[in-house]
Amino acid sequence: MIKIRNVKIEDLSQLVSIEHLCFSKEEAATREAFEKRIRIIPDSFYVAEENGEIVGLINGPVIETAFINDDLFSNIKKNPSTGGYQSILGLAVHPQFQKHGIASKLLRHLESEARMKNRESITLTCKENLIRYYEKHGYLNNGLSSSEHAGEMWYNMIKKLP
Ligand SMILES: CC(C)(COP(=O)(O)OP(=O)(O)OC[C@H]1O[C@@H](n2cnc3c(N)ncnc32)[C@H](O)[C@@H]1OP(=O)(O)O)[C@@H](O)C(=O)NCCC(=O)NCCS
Repeated sequence: MIKIRNVKIEDLSQLVSIEHLCFSKEEAATREAFEKRIRIIPDSFYVAEENGEIVGLINGPVIETAFINDDLFSNIKKNPSTGGYQSILGLAVHPQFQKHGIASKLLRHLESEARMKNRESITLTCKENLIRYYEKHGYLNNGLSSSEHAGEMWYNMIKKLP
């Protein structure tokens, strides 16, 4: 059974290894970046666990603007208790556990927490191949982002929370 819970510092090594299985070296969050996010925003960093093993993760700070900028990948602040925009900087599922709905569960969990805290929307950037996936989850494509993260093209995907 998959369980979604908030991150703990003990998860660090497993998170780094999943991130590197899922992303290129340029895209992957570093150990230092994860450490910082666990310390500063544990309230919007969730992991999916199966039989005590971490199989997926989702994380991102609450920000003051509707769109993500590259500065966030290295520079984050504590989340306000309510309001703001919930960003997603990372969503990854261990390759052996993909296509079982785990990313969808992580997205739904983050979304329900964001609703409870009256966040205005959820905002993320993705590559072209995942636009449809996020659209199925109710996100709208807001076109190309100014992000040059890892030298790739990214699209702004936004889901408003009524
Ligand atoms: C993108 C990613 C997070 C998706 O994770 P996932 O857990 O496989 O996602 P889901 O299972 O929720 O959905 C993936 C697909 O599996 C299908 N699926 C879900 N549950 C399923 C099941 N039980 N059986 C078969 N297929 C299933 C979904 O319908 C979906 O198909 P679609 O693309 O046609 O909509 C994962 O592939 C990943 O880590 N990729 C590399 C990193 C990355 O690109 N992250 C996103 C950054 S923006």
